[in-house]
Amino acid sequence: MSVPVTQTRISVPALMAYKGKQKICALTAYIAPIARMLDEAMDFILVGDSTAMVGYAMPDTLSITVEQMAAHAGAVVRATQHACVVVDMPFGSYQQSPQQAFENAAYMLSVSGAQAVKIEGGQVMAETTRFLVERGIPVLAHVGLMPQYVNTMGGYKAQGMTDAAAQRVLEDAVAHAQAGAFGVVLEGVAEAVGQRITESISVPTIGIGASPACDGQVLVTEDILGLTPGRIPKFAKQYADVGAVIKQAAESYAQEVRSGTFPDLEHCFGVKR
Ligand code: KIV
Repeated sequence: MSVPVTQTRISVPALMAYKGKQKICALTAYIAPIARMLDEAMDFILVGDSTAMVGYAMPDTLSITVEQMAAHAGAVVRATQHACVVVDMPFGSYQQSPQQAFENAAYMLSVSGAQAVKIEGGQVMAETTRFLVERGIPVLAHVGLMPQYVNTMGGYKAQGMTDAAAQRVLEDAVAHAQAGAFGVVLEGVAEAVGQRITESISVPTIGIGASPACDGQVLVTEDILGLTPGRIPKFAKQYADVGAVIKQAAESYAQEVRSGTFPDLEHCFGVKR
């Protein structure tokens, strides 16, 4: 077997080794231009099914398909060379059985070139995590607030707010870690729960509305760039107003087209100057 000489991309085992040594930094990307700009600064890029809402203006994450996610993941992989690329398995593509999960996850990785998949679900999905990992598919588990469970949760509500609920989220995270998940995303959980889980499992926790104690953090890129309509979630922080920059550029372009100042002759072919 021939082995590539240079493997520059951060690997799944490398991410696991960050625990207790350095924080893991992640953002979402769905398309090449954004992925290209995130690549150097990120340890992993998540091709999240949040693209259903962010990129396709769908009301929730439930309607995105395996084919759509694989196409987005392929674009992100082709545009990057440094960050590990993890892709979300969409709703309905893995919950039915470990076999169904393997078939769709194998398709996802082979079509896109991504290195790992993320699946949502509590202890009941730990068997699927084990099935995938034992067959060569690295799994990032996602517990706590799980957007694909919006209908059973009755909305997007913080989890682990009572002792019993906190214990359930802890047991979910422990079950996935024991099943071989290389990390666990903790979304929308009480801060103390995020801290306790981070101290209790041997693989990295990635917080999103969890705790600063988590081994890493992930956010939706559009939230930090000012590209999300309306208010951003409580757990996000806006680092730039790219939305305002785009709006301003569009207005300047429209004004120049309407006034006839764009295009200038320098933008035309066959003109000697
Ligand atoms: O789909 C997504 O972007 C996610 C993150 C919010 C963790 O799952």
